[in-house]
Amino acid sequence: MFPVNTWYVACSADEIDEKPLGRTICNQAIVFYRAHEGKVAAVEDFCPHRGAPLSLGYVCEGKLVCGYHGLEMGCDGKTVAMPGQRVGGFPAIRSFPVEERYGFVWVWPGEKDKADPALIPHMEWHDNPEWAYGGGLYHVKADYRLMIDNLMDLTHETYVHATSIGQPEIDETPCKTTVNGDEVVTSRFMSDIPAPPFWKAALRAKGLADDVPVDRWQICRFTPPSHVIIEVGVAHAGHGGYDAPAEHKVYSQVIDFITPETNTSMHYFWGMARKFNPGDKALTAQIREGQGKIFSEDLEMLERQQKNLSAFPDRALLKLNIDTGGVQSRKVIERVIAAERGAS
Ligand code: FES
Ligand SMILES: [Fe+2]
Repeated sequence: MFPVNTWYVACSADEIDEKPLGRTICNQAIVFYRAHEGKVAAVEDFCPHRGAPLSLGYVCEGKLVCGYHGLEMGCDGKTVAMPGQRVGGFPAIRSFPVEERYGFVWVWPGEKDKADPALIPHMEWHDNPEWAYGGGLYHVKADYRLMIDNLMDLTHETYVHATSIGQPEIDETPCKTTVNGDEVVTSRFMSDIPAPPFWKAALRAKGLADDVPVDRWQICRFTPPSHVIIEVGVAHAGHGGYDAPAEHKVYSQVIDFITPETNTSMHYFWGMARKFNPGDKALTAQIREGQGKIFSEDLEMLERQQKNLSAFPDRALLKLNIDTGGVQSRKVIERVIAAERGAS
C-alpha cells in the first residue's frame, strides 16, 4: 500500500510547540514532541503502562510525561521514571527517526537502521531570499494515491477549478508523460491562450498586463514515496513560454507532500513557492488563501471517489491517456514497495 522505508512529512515545524502532537502515519499512531534543546523526537503513541496515548500528556524537561499516571518516557522509547515505581523492567516502545528540515518534521516509519537524512529531497526555495513560500495542511479521507492521480493529471482543473485556474484549453492540449527511473514527469504546454483568473491576478501582482494572450505551462514531477512538485506559470505570448526571460513571466512551484495516514486517509501538505515579489508578505498570504480555496475543491471529489471505490473494490476502472502520469507513479510506488519487501 505504501513504502515505509522512506521519509514522509509528519507535520509542519510549528505544529509542535510545548505540547506533543499525536498523528497517525502509515497506520502507526505516533507522538511527536520537542525533547532536549527543542530537538524533535517521535515515539509510539502508546504508554507502556496501560496503553494511554502519550500525546495526551505533556513535556517536562525534555521528557514526555504520560497524562494518565505520570510515566516519563525518553526519546528512545525507554521509560525513564514513574512515580513510586521501579521502571527497569518496563517494555520499551518504538521510537522513530525524525528530522526537522525546510520548516517540516520528516519521519521514517520503517526500519530504523535504514533511515538516512541525506535521502530527504532538497528544497531550493527554503530560506532562500529569492523565493517566498506559503502553504497549509488538509486531512483527506482518501487513499493517498488518489491525490497523486489528481496532481499528475491536471485535466481536472477545467472542471473542478473552473473559476480560478481551469480553462478549456487544458483539455484541448495533450499532455506528455515520461519516466526517468523513479521520477515521473507529466507536462503540458499551452500557447497563445487567455490567462485564467488566478494567473491574471499573479500577472497584475508583478505589474504585468493581464489582458494579453499568454503561454502557460504545467510540469508535474512525482518522486517516491509521494512527493509531487509542479512547475506552473504563464508568460506573455511570444517571449519563449517556459523559457521566457523572467520579466515576461510569472511562475511558481506547487509543493505537495502527501503522507498516508491509513489505507484510506492522508495528510496533505500543500503549498506554493514562488520566485516573483518574494518580499511581498501580503501577496504570500493572498496566494495561500487562493490556493487553499482551490485545493479544497478537490477534497470532496476525492473523498466521495474513495467511498465509491471502497463500495466497489473489484470494479475495473479505465486508464486513459490523461491518466498516464498517475498510472506510472503508482508503478514506481509498487516497485519501491516490492524492493522493500525483497530486501527485508
Ligand atoms: S497509562 Fe501512562 S502512566 Fe498509566
Ligand atoms: Fe485540483
